[in-house]
Amino acid sequence: MPNQAPVTITLDPHLRLGTIDRRIFGSFVEHLGRAVYTGIYEPGHPTADAYGFRRDVAELATELGVTLLRYPGGNFVSSYRWEDGIGPVAERPRRLDLAWRTLESNRVGTDEFLSWCRRLGVEPMMAVNLGTRGIEAAADLVEYCNIPGGTTLSDRRRSNGSPEPYGVRLWCLGNEMDGPWQVGRRDADEYGRLAARVGHAMRRVDPTIELVACGSSGRQMPTFGAWERTVLEHTYEVADYLSLHAYYEEHDGDRASFLGSGAAMDRFIADVIATADSVGARLGSPKRMKLSFDEWNVWYMSETTPVDTSAILPEGSRLFEDRYRLLDAVVVGDLLITLLNHADRVRVACLAQLVNVIAPIATEPGGDAWRLATFYPFAHTARAARGTALRPVVETPTLETARHGEVPATSCAATYDPDEGTAAVFLVNRTDRPVTARLRHPDFPGWTVAGCASIVADHGGKLVTAEAARAAEPVEHRNVRPGAAQTEVDLAPESWTVLRIRVGE
Ligand code: AHR
Repeated sequence: MPNQAPVTITLDPHLRLGTIDRRIFGSFVEHLGRAVYTGIYEPGHPTADAYGFRRDVAELATELGVTLLRYPGGNFVSSYRWEDGIGPVAERPRRLDLAWRTLESNRVGTDEFLSWCRRLGVEPMMAVNLGTRGIEAAADLVEYCNIPGGTTLSDRRRSNGSPEPYGVRLWCLGNEMDGPWQVGRRDADEYGRLAARVGHAMRRVDPTIELVACGSSGRQMPTFGAWERTVLEHTYEVADYLSLHAYYEEHDGDRASFLGSGAAMDRFIADVIATADSVGARLGSPKRMKLSFDEWNVWYMSETTPVDTSAILPEGSRLFEDRYRLLDAVVVGDLLITLLNHADRVRVACLAQLVNVIAPIATEPGGDAWRLATFYPFAHTARAARGTALRPVVETPTLETARHGEVPATSCAATYDPDEGTAAVFLVNRTDRPVTARLRHPDFPGWTVAGCASIVADHGGKLVTAEAARAAEPVEHRNVRPGAAQTEVDLAPESWTVLRIRVGE
């Protein structure tokens, strides 16, 4: 197939969108399937540490570059009693989790998770239950986690083995509270009022915390927009963030639309910003609501079966253990491009989830842990995207898609870290034809291409084993023609590319 006309991208080091918050390289661990039990935690596993957490998984999480972990749900949180998960393990109750109809032993709870995060060097993001509970339970949990001592709950944490407070900064006020599947689902007005009250009380316990109000559980919800408006009218003052959730998949072989997922995410974010800013304007508030994209990924949701409400699943059941194709890895890379292009407003983001459940890391009980295809674009982006996100000026043709209408044929994000003397350019060719990207960078001093690597989609299936998934490891190539003011890079059809740049005199 013939090449398309080159795409022109102008990169100006002065055209800055904002500092990249490292929290956008977050992920998510829910009490769901094997995310916790035989995922992060498996006492008796050959690599288990003294606390029963798998070292092989911890090492992969570090290699992935994860900075933040959301916990304990997800839908799970909406019927969770956090008190069940503290104190002597042998005395913890066994419960039926109502979200996933799974037996929960509570062997892992707040202390185990937060101590693991501390050992791993990642920031925790906790969610409170606004499905079956409310103000008191949420305020109590903040007290348990963040007050140094001298109160009943903080002293209980101390006697449970954590003398230092955890200092959890980020808190989600519930999860997907508009979803019909959510235990304790509420309408926007009811949720907004509750979230405002709960948030107010949690801040009374610790004024330094940051709060995330629930946005719609997806762009496809019939109440999308109206939900955000009403919720923010109640919570604008108390909340620091509004949440967004989105999962993408290829529907009925519609590859073009699937490759346009990054553009769909881009519009979703723009719509939420517009809605949030309109509430801010009406309230006369100088505050700009930040966004927390705390669930995003590719998910073969149409292949999953609904939760069986007649059965109780044993702990550690296999749920949503998706395996990914090269095409999915390209799309994940493109979704990260979109997040970088909104770095000024999207300050938190979580790839949902970390291990086994729609995840970049897979494990076998008693066996190996390995990288799946989506691991690679995430790890490479988290490593290369440093400093400031730029506003690249992209002159590209568009592509017609059935689900998203016209989308740019090439997507691009660029980052620049003058202190480290590095820059990076991320590109996706969403079309099925090769294209050359002509990068113009006359104002970057001493532009040198340090490396260029790509993931190229094919028409193959899911990459199940570690060996197969390694096909998604970006391959270094030389299809780059660097110059002082302009660099050309050839983009294969349906591919993701990262260019690592050194800058400076
Ligand atoms: O990530 C899996 C589930 O997807 C989460 O529990 C829920 O918030 C979303 O619907």
